[in-house]
Amino acid sequence: MKSPLVVSITGAAGQIGYSLLPRIASGQVFGYDQPVALRLIEIEPGMKALAGVVMELNDCAFPLLESIEATSDLDHGFSGANWALLVGSVPRKAGMERKDLLGINGKIFIGQGQAIERNAADDINILVVGNPCNTNCLIAMNNAPGVPQNRWHAMTRLDENRAKSALAEKAGCHSRDITKLAIWGNHSSTLYPDFENALINGDPVGKYIPDRAWLEGDFIKDVQQRGAAIIAARGLSSAASAAHAALETVMSLRETTPAEDWHSVAVASDGSYGVEKGLICSFPTRSDGKTASIVQGVELSDFAKAKFQLTLNELLEEKAMVSELLPK
Ligand code: NAD
Ligand code: LMR
Repeated sequence: MKSPLVVSITGAAGQIGYSLLPRIASGQVFGYDQPVALRLIEIEPGMKALAGVVMELNDCAFPLLESIEATSDLDHGFSGANWALLVGSVPRKAGMERKDLLGINGKIFIGQGQAIERNAADDINILVVGNPCNTNCLIAMNNAPGVPQNRWHAMTRLDENRAKSALAEKAGCHSRDITKLAIWGNHSSTLYPDFENALINGDPVGKYIPDRAWLEGDFIKDVQQRGAAIIAARGLSSAASAAHAALETVMSLRETTPAEDWHSVAVASDGSYGVEKGLICSFPTRSDGKTASIVQGVELSDFAKAKFQLTLNELLEEKAMVSELLPK
């Protein structure tokens, strides 16, 4: 038996947590030969519900679930963590943009970054899901200077999946036929889903969808607004699809990405594509099974560059909004 992998999850009693946990405990994410030790982190008011979640996990009798610790103490929650999924935070309500949550959620990520630096394992990897995830990740990363910047990720895989699903519907193909669909920028209503570099069955999207006006218009808008559409329909923000995308992100980072594809995740910029170093920005990335690297040399048309600039501007605005949360 391998030694257990320690996985810390904040907001574990929330809706996304409820979808994530059984899949992690089952072995689906880290491997069917890999025991996991869960550290489930909640704020005090969430601890009662978390106790119920723990009962349910125990009642599944998962063979690979080594242990569960439920805590509201960040030092305990991140101790020895190999992976940290930072989900805990307040979701937006109808009529709000995700960045409207910065005032309430941003500060959460100071203490979490500091506790990760103090307590996590040397090989810690972090995925931030709680919104606005790019800038929350920026805050946590800057409050954990001892953790290498390439361990920090924020989730845009849900946007990639949404874009694939929308293109497949329009093209009359299956979403599995679509590769190289990159989300550039922020997980927000300015994100840019790059249909110009995406492929359907290995061919440019335009071969299947000649309606350029739809691609430039409704396609982009619908992907940007999909989260809001789900809130309008469900009265709650996405959870099953969000949990699925979070787990796919982790799995993709732990595998070598095939040369003919890439995936979207927001990472600390290394200056690629003119993005300010250290900004948490979504790019096309490939993993070597340990670390995601930004794919170089992707051609952006003038149309794409203009869209990318808009979402970059928003990331810079968000950074300025939280400047007091970033240590000098
Ligand atoms: P939820 O309200 O159902 O659950 C959030 C949980 O976090 C609650 O149990 C709450 O008690 C807990 N929590 C709050 N502050 C905490 C803290 N400081 N430490 C630990 N736990 C804390 O919300 P949800 O639907 O699970 O969504 C969680 C977050 O994920 C929201 O911010 C939402 O907007 C975001 N989200 C992001 C994406 C994405 O694509 N990046 C997709 C969906 C949702
Ligand atoms: C989503 O994209 O579904 C999430 O970010 C939740 C939201 O607020 O839209």
